[in-house]
Amino acid sequence: MSNISPLQKARLQYRPKLPVSLRNGVLAVKAELGEKTQSVADQDQIAKIFERTYGKPVVEFKPAEADGRKSPAINVGVILSGGQAPGGHNVIAGLFDALKNANSENKLYGFKGGPSGLTDGKYVEMTADFVDAYRNTGGFDIIGSGRTKLETEEQFQKALAVCRNLGITAIVIIGGDDSNTNAALMAEWFVRHDAGIQVIGCPKTIDGDLKNKQIEISFGFDTATKTYAELIGNIERDANSAKKYWHFIKIMGRSASHVALEAALQTQPNITLISEEVAARKMSLAQIVDYIADIICRRAENGKNFGIAIVPEGLIEFIPEMKTMIASLNDLTHDLENDGKYQSATQTEKFAIIEKALSAENAAVFASLPDGIKAQLLMDRDPHGNVQVSRIETEKLLIAMLEKKLAAMKKAGTYKGKFSTQSHFFGYEGRCAFPSNFDADYCYSLGYNAFALVNGGFTGYLSSVRNLTKPADEWIAGGIPLTMMMNIEKRKGENKPVIRKALVELDGPVFARLADNREDWAMNDRYLFPGAVQYFGPSEVCDLTTVTLQLEHQK
Ligand code: FBP
Repeated sequence: MSNISPLQKARLQYRPKLPVSLRNGVLAVKAELGEKTQSVADQDQIAKIFERTYGKPVVEFKPAEADGRKSPAINVGVILSGGQAPGGHNVIAGLFDALKNANSENKLYGFKGGPSGLTDGKYVEMTADFVDAYRNTGGFDIIGSGRTKLETEEQFQKALAVCRNLGITAIVIIGGDDSNTNAALMAEWFVRHDAGIQVIGCPKTIDGDLKNKQIEISFGFDTATKTYAELIGNIERDANSAKKYWHFIKIMGRSASHVALEAALQTQPNITLISEEVAARKMSLAQIVDYIADIICRRAENGKNFGIAIVPEGLIEFIPEMKTMIASLNDLTHDLENDGKYQSATQTEKFAIIEKALSAENAAVFASLPDGIKAQLLMDRDPHGNVQVSRIETEKLLIAMLEKKLAAMKKAGTYKGKFSTQSHFFGYEGRCAFPSNFDADYCYSLGYNAFALVNGGFTGYLSSVRNLTKPADEWIAGGIPLTMMMNIEKRKGENKPVIRKALVELDGPVFARLADNREDWAMNDRYLFPGAVQYFGPSEVCDLTTVTLQLEHQK
């Protein structure tokens, strides 16, 4: 029996589309340079940190006549960094094809297990057979991924030694905002040390928060949101058939609520929480519970003891009292990392130590939480010092609080319904799905374009492919200086240059679509059933972009 599925077999044959400017290979493009650029904020500080790479122009590639000259052979390294996102394999395939098309002597080295593969010299040389087996498939398993931050002098020295050893003169980092911040730091470091090594980033993350005017969306968002929407739609149908459960569904997206919002627009559930709105309205946890309870009660009065509530993964960190408490907790757990007494304490003892060390206000918030949530809040931080929100069961916290509230209301005679629940977390289900046609094309183009930037001699740039609501031929390929997207933020107590995360804009058209409809969706069941991502068939079902992208383009 073959060890690949029929769909994988069919997808291996799919030929991703490229923008017209890249169709004849990277030797047949000319780079048009825009004006000098500035960072989004803190210009003086960013310009000082990135003394050699700051302020570069935006690049746009236009088709040109190839001059017939062969480009000299070069070696390029590639890294997958951070969480998986559908289409990563196609970025590599696009990069590989562009590089071999320019000169068959060119070599591509894949660093294994994320950024640490570069510093530890763990790599594989990519061959056509090797790459072919991964075309149009989900996952990052071609070389693996990791979350190591590349930022220290020692790491850069090690990376330099590995690149020298392999004759590598360009590195492509496929990652999110943090990984691309590191790409910018490494690009600057290489220039300062006359290393002759370029660094190009590619915008990856299902979270959809690495975006701006030139980066319309990070790859993976399209497929992941469609996958979650399929699952939510199926649950809506189940709820509407049995009419007996309230389903609370947490949707991945570390910080911004773009994924939850997009999945909600595709499925029209009864309740959708948006973290950015909770923060803007300074809603407490109790107020969020009141908001949900009100809808549950009103539906119960109409005889509907069922419904769907969408909870964004990062919600807890956007609730003001939680945000303050978590920030103190982050510092505290960092300080306690090497405290033997704390580390060997039982869970109950740990809670007591924490409550004693927090301010009275923060301790009260911490103490008010169920033990399960307290324990989840004390788990290890990620390498960037963040709470791992994917491990915090906010959906269950809300259910527990609602059960309490509704029971009290029942006693008081203000609620007569029945509250039976199911909880779900959709996150990992979507990160390695077969990329949609959109992501397959977009990722391939991003990778191909990354090599056009390498070939053009650029460094400290992010591969950019725009005009994405149009057919792929009309996509515009080019590059954005990474420093253009940066500002200064506090990380682990220090001011650091970082790429600014794009949060949901509450005055934007995407949130407006939800805000304008949510009362109707709350009370009347306007469920939409998007079904599974379609790879073959009519263009109107196979090549659909997200509602987010469509609405943002109509702006
Ligand atoms: P990236 O920002 O690296 O793309 O990862 C995003 C994400 O998928 C978040 O949505 C989620 O909170 C997190 O990764 C989970 O991380 P892990 O895979 O380490 O559990």
